[in-house]
Amino acid sequence: MRNLILTVLLSVIAVVSGYVEELDDKFKEYLQHELWLVEFYAPWCAYCHTFEPIWHEVGAELKSMGSPVNVGKIDTTVHTSIASEFNIRGYPTIKLFKGELSFDYKGPRTKDAIIEFTNRVSGPVVRPLSSVQLFQHVMNRHDLIFVYIGGESLLKREYYKAATEYIVHTYFFTASEEVLPKVVTLQDVPAIAVFKDGTYYLYNEFLDGDLSSWINRERFPSYFQIDSFSLYQMGELSKLVALAVVDEKNPSEESIRYKTLMERLSTEYRDHYKSDYQFGFMDGNEYINGLIMGEVEMPSIIVLNMSIDGYCLPESKIETIEDLLRFLNSVLDGSAKLLGGNGFLQWTKRSFYKAKSTVVSMFQAAPFFSCFVFGLPVGIVALVIWGTCTAVPADDEKPVEGATANPVSDAHGKKAIELQPDSTEKPSEAKKED
Ligand SMILES: *[C@@H]1O[C@H](CO)[C@@H](O)[C@H](O)[C@H]1NC(C)=O
Repeated sequence: MRNLILTVLLSVIAVVSGYVEELDDKFKEYLQHELWLVEFYAPWCAYCHTFEPIWHEVGAELKSMGSPVNVGKIDTTVHTSIASEFNIRGYPTIKLFKGELSFDYKGPRTKDAIIEFTNRVSGPVVRPLSSVQLFQHVMNRHDLIFVYIGGESLLKREYYKAATEYIVHTYFFTASEEVLPKVVTLQDVPAIAVFKDGTYYLYNEFLDGDLSSWINRERFPSYFQIDSFSLYQMGELSKLVALAVVDEKNPSEESIRYKTLMERLSTEYRDHYKSDYQFGFMDGNEYINGLIMGEVEMPSIIVLNMSIDGYCLPESKIETIEDLLRFLNSVLDGSAKLLGGNGFLQWTKRSFYKAKSTVVSMFQAAPFFSCFVFGLPVGIVALVIWGTCTAVPADDEKPVEGATANPVSDAHGKKAIELQPDSTEKPSEAKKED
């Protein structure tokens, strides 16, 4: 209860006293000396309004934590040059500016997730773990960390470079051999390890290819609950995603079996599949349905190729681990039927699907407004048709009536057309980011 009151109070104070600065074109001058977390928004973006109180809480909390990061927002419809300079395409877009660099936030738009991101990215890209206790503490707090072990080296320089690229996703540390847990045995120093799945895996320069792509492949736990944000990121992973789609609220025996099989595969067959598959489960089929523009059963097993929005479904029921292995191998050797994808037909279908869901969600969110937006052009067209049909055929004596009727309705017609993209297309852009 006290927490609740405190939260409410904090939000009220935040909104009133403004921990979020309204920025203009000049904010770039601040960037040389200050850290900034900036929301790029547009006034017509409905989601930006919903997000506003969260953004204020972020500002307030960072301030109360004594964070050096300033929080601001900028109206991209007023400061259009900024929008094009930073290549802003969806709303709201959140970026952290740190010296010369900027980092995009692509996670869930919750206060805690944004603050975690801010603290991670605004601090040093690589943090030293100087004692056994500190190492343990960090291991307990994070599901996944990368650690460089050893002194100065070429590899260390590469590690820093890769860390700068991937700090938006996860944590990077350095440590000396002495502070490592006893179970870790190293053949060689320097070494780089990822600690995850309750164990650790070492980077092998000769087998794993370049460091940056190894980090990219290893930056997720081998098996975990995947949400829409992490799934979206997996487009950059160049791995297929093998998912158990389950309803966590009604866990059936079958869904438990699917999850267990997936988890077993991810550990028992890790070496076999580590560069081809990311394993996980997803609660609910809503996001997947949108992705495949259809309906997957719950529970089910599906393999997704996120770089082309393609997917494969098993042709027969999966009962055993052998069934699952057979299915995954059939996807790899190309014998499983690939559905979806981003060919022209799929692209058209997706455009229709998106337009449809945008219209549906518009009507759900604002029925009156939507009626107006869609009704207006229809009404005008009807009026024009009615006008044309009932108009007295223009003869020599009455050219004026015919001449005025058209320009007037034209002007209205144009207005209606302008109105439409404003209210249908842009929300869908904003939605894409969700
Ligand atoms: C996804 O599909 C494309 C096109 O078929 C293919 O080139 C790519 O290798 C696939 N991705 C994965 C991770 O298999």
